[in-house]
Amino acid sequence: MSEFKARTVAILGRQPEFGVSELESLYGAERIKPIGGSAALLDIEAGEINFKNLGGTIKVAKILAELSTSSWIGIEKYLIKQVPVHLKHVASGKFTLGLSAYDFNVSPNQINKTALSVKKAARRLPAGRQGSMRVVPNKAAALSSAQVLHNRLTTKGAWELVLVKHRNQTILAQTMFVQDIEAYGARDQARPARDAKVGMLPPKLAQIMINLAVGQPDPMKANGWDKAEGVRKFIVLDPFCGTGVILQEALLMGYSVYGTDIDERLVSYTKKNLQWLVGKYPNIEGRVMVEAVDATSYLWPRFSTVITEAYLGRPLNKLPAPSELNKIVQDSNTIIKKFLKNLRPQLKPDRKAVVAVPAWQISSRRFKFLPLVDELTDMGYSIVKFKHVDPGGLVYCREDQIVARQLLVIERL
Ligand SMILES: C[S@@+](CC[C@H](N)C(=O)[O-])C[C@H]1O[C@@H](n2cnc3c(N)ncnc32)[C@H](O)[C@@H]1O
Repeated sequence: MSEFKARTVAILGRQPEFGVSELESLYGAERIKPIGGSAALLDIEAGEINFKNLGGTIKVAKILAELSTSSWIGIEKYLIKQVPVHLKHVASGKFTLGLSAYDFNVSPNQINKTALSVKKAARRLPAGRQGSMRVVPNKAAALSSAQVLHNRLTTKGAWELVLVKHRNQTILAQTMFVQDIEAYGARDQARPARDAKVGMLPPKLAQIMINLAVGQPDPMKANGWDKAEGVRKFIVLDPFCGTGVILQEALLMGYSVYGTDIDERLVSYTKKNLQWLVGKYPNIEGRVMVEAVDATSYLWPRFSTVITEAYLGRPLNKLPAPSELNKIVQDSNTIIKKFLKNLRPQLKPDRKAVVAVPAWQISSRRFKFLPLVDELTDMGYSIVKFKHVDPGGLVYCREDQIVARQLLVIERL
């Protein structure tokens, strides 16, 4: 096995375990190394990463240096000396600098001071660069995606330098890609048919689910398909499609999609949303099929993999009494168990399925899980293992949310 060489650093989203499992699924456990609380090193060039399809990574940065210190004073000294030297290689004209620190105990003020000292040092450069550097002020230790986007820090004439603490060392990297929050917002909020009760799956989570299911081994290779043709032939089935968020993201990733839902109204919502998407993104090539059927009994004529957010029970904004909660849990459990039984003989043996099921947040990060999660083996499924993440820990939840989503990444036993 070749030795790991860190080339790129991925800055992970709010729940890093999702970003790590997604990268592991796409690139293999050997090519990634989680560090600190918020990042992962990758033995992959930034340019090889298909960033716009990643839901769990917010920035991808090219590693420039590994500093043998993690003290902020040492880092500041390094930047004051090195940034002006490297700036000489950048075309003259306006230049914008942003600094983002991860896993350091350093205040935004301190970072702003460092950036201003770097700016001062750059001013002492020979003609060309003088006085033309602008610094993006930090409101937090790290610049947000919005700040990186609005200040165009991944374009020519700008740098976002990312500093990640790794034990007593520091990784210094330059941001190449940042999550396009506006594009996510546009395809989330601008969809013509929305339903607050069902359609709240964030597109980023949908992307993560797709990557967890499709990842490795590459389905194109497994089927001997040509890459472009194969993506289209690969059919993502969402048997609880609701308003179609998963199908929407799968289409954008090039796959064909098949959505079913028991509710005719939601089937019409999905149709409307997908029509709108295809109109908005003319490059979409995948085929679309949507119909109203019951996921607990239907035999789907053809599909490659299942990626779905199953029935979550009713939305809750406060924790109900225990007896009521038990009933809600039982209702979801019954439907999803029936669905999994129905799916088992239909799922191909070499395919992973990703099913988001409800878990209820009883107190901070403590959950009540569906009973079926412990019965998967009896039902003929095994849970896919990750090297860097506990598969039972993939519970997507905001602090104030009662109904969380637990991702089950499963395959046939
Ligand atoms: C949590 S929602 C899925 C939302 C979806 N991810 C979206 O993007 O809007 C669950 C869906 O399951 C559907 N459903 C419930 N029981 C079903 C069944 N037995 N068969 C198929 N669909 C069912 C509901 O109509 C609802 O649309």
